[in-house]
Amino acid sequence: MALYVKAAEILQKAEKKQGALKTLVYDSKFSNIKQLFALVCETHKFSSILQEVIEATKLLKQTKLQMHLAKVLVYDLLMGQGLKCGGSWKAMMLKHRSRLQAELARMKVRQKVSRNEDLLPAGAQRASGDQLPRYVRVNTLKTTVDDAVDYLKRDGFSYLGQATRVDDVNLKRKDFVRDLHLPEVLAFSPRTDFHEHFLYKAGHIILQDKASCLPAFLLDPAPGSRVIDACAAPGNKTSHLAAIMKNKGKLFAFDLDAKRLATMSTLLLRAGVTCHQLAHCDFLKVDPDSPQYKDVEYILLDPSCSGSGMVCLRDDASDQDEDQARLASLASFQLRCLNHSLRFPHLKRLVYSTCSIHRQENEDVVTACLQQNPGFRLVPLLPQWPERGLEPLTQCLRASVSRTCTHGFFVALLEKAAGHGSSQVTAHGPSTCEKRPAGSADESGASETEEIQTPAAAQTDGTNGKKKKKRSRKKKKAAAE
Ligand SMILES: C[S@@+](CC[C@H](N)C(=O)[O-])C[C@H]1O[C@@H](n2cnc3c(N)ncnc32)[C@H](O)[C@@H]1O
Repeated sequence: MALYVKAAEILQKAEKKQGALKTLVYDSKFSNIKQLFALVCETHKFSSILQEVIEATKLLKQTKLQMHLAKVLVYDLLMGQGLKCGGSWKAMMLKHRSRLQAELARMKVRQKVSRNEDLLPAGAQRASGDQLPRYVRVNTLKTTVDDAVDYLKRDGFSYLGQATRVDDVNLKRKDFVRDLHLPEVLAFSPRTDFHEHFLYKAGHIILQDKASCLPAFLLDPAPGSRVIDACAAPGNKTSHLAAIMKNKGKLFAFDLDAKRLATMSTLLLRAGVTCHQLAHCDFLKVDPDSPQYKDVEYILLDPSCSGSGMVCLRDDASDQDEDQARLASLASFQLRCLNHSLRFPHLKRLVYSTCSIHRQENEDVVTACLQQNPGFRLVPLLPQWPERGLEPLTQCLRASVSRTCTHGFFVALLEKAAGHGSSQVTAHGPSTCEKRPAGSADESGASETEEIQTPAAAQTDGTNGKKKKKRSRKKKKAAAE
């Protein structure tokens, strides 16, 4: 019920121009942001059709529902995966279901179409996220790609082999392929649903967009190494890192949001991840010189971002001024995270990623960081990847619906330049990892509940003043050389 009330509230606010749809969803602090995203986006997309059905059936008069609430309920009843509420609302909606279904069917007959999607204007159909392939990543901690493929074949899917072109992921019905660029990724037709599938429930496959598999794949931490996932929840990239590390070494995962960390904990358990240590804390307050973290060699930084690359989150109602202010604040947070990451004294490689399409959060952040940290350089990535970072940062990758058949995404890989010691980077910021209320995360996303280990970083320190001075001396020396 809370889901529908929240979704209706967001749709109403967006209509009154009280904020962009995506901002309102992020700001809602709802416990399951993904579910709320999906419902709001889809209801928004079908809004005019839902309104027509509701008006034709006189649903508001008969139920006393308010229009936005009626729209989200009717969406889930007729087009979504069924009502997720019980009690009086469910009973009421079920009472009207056949009339609502009949009205939707009449609309399709009138327009001579068979699918709900076909009722949408052409532009809206193109922007739809459900046109993207369903990607799954095979979790090599639990199985192999060959075994997963065999299982799926026995389960009625037809395997077409490895893709040879980007377009080969435009698949029909039960067809699937192995991805062109990422060997552990399989692609299926857009509406394939694995939520009830054995391989998903047993953690053998992870439902993850292809672009979001790039960061861990490119960082490629060695098994046995020490790795940080700085803004980790809900943990798909963490589980990917663990698979690449073969569960050997130490994977420190931080997040500000306790509820998202709790979700993450379940996800990691299902995926068989054992080399991790979760910490509910602000990454910016983790001390790079503490005994626990000083040997970290790899960092994956996937900080909060505008989410503008997520296809379903693009909306026309966005307020330009608000977006600019929000982007500036996100970019400043992202740059702080990036600069802080480069302070880990033994860092070799860092991957920076966002699901944003905005230059401000991507190339501009990386450029500013490189200017402030001349000891690091960009690594040219996957020459065969079809979409590059915006000039001049063509070493980086971008992803998009049109060029890579994925959500919009950006990835940069930074490595310590040869000849640069451990002290080239800027020294700043606080030195302990203190708990912050989850709500204070910049654009944090969602929430759930606690479990979480106390960050070892919170127990460190006392020696930091000395370390900072030493670092600052080293930095001055390096600058003079
Ligand atoms: C884009 S999401 C990360 C998604 C994750 N990498 C994955 O693949 O599942 C960004 C996350 O950063 C967290 N976050 C925001 N500010 C943070 C901070 N200062 N320290 C640690 N985590 C932070 C948010 O709570 C959110 O869960």
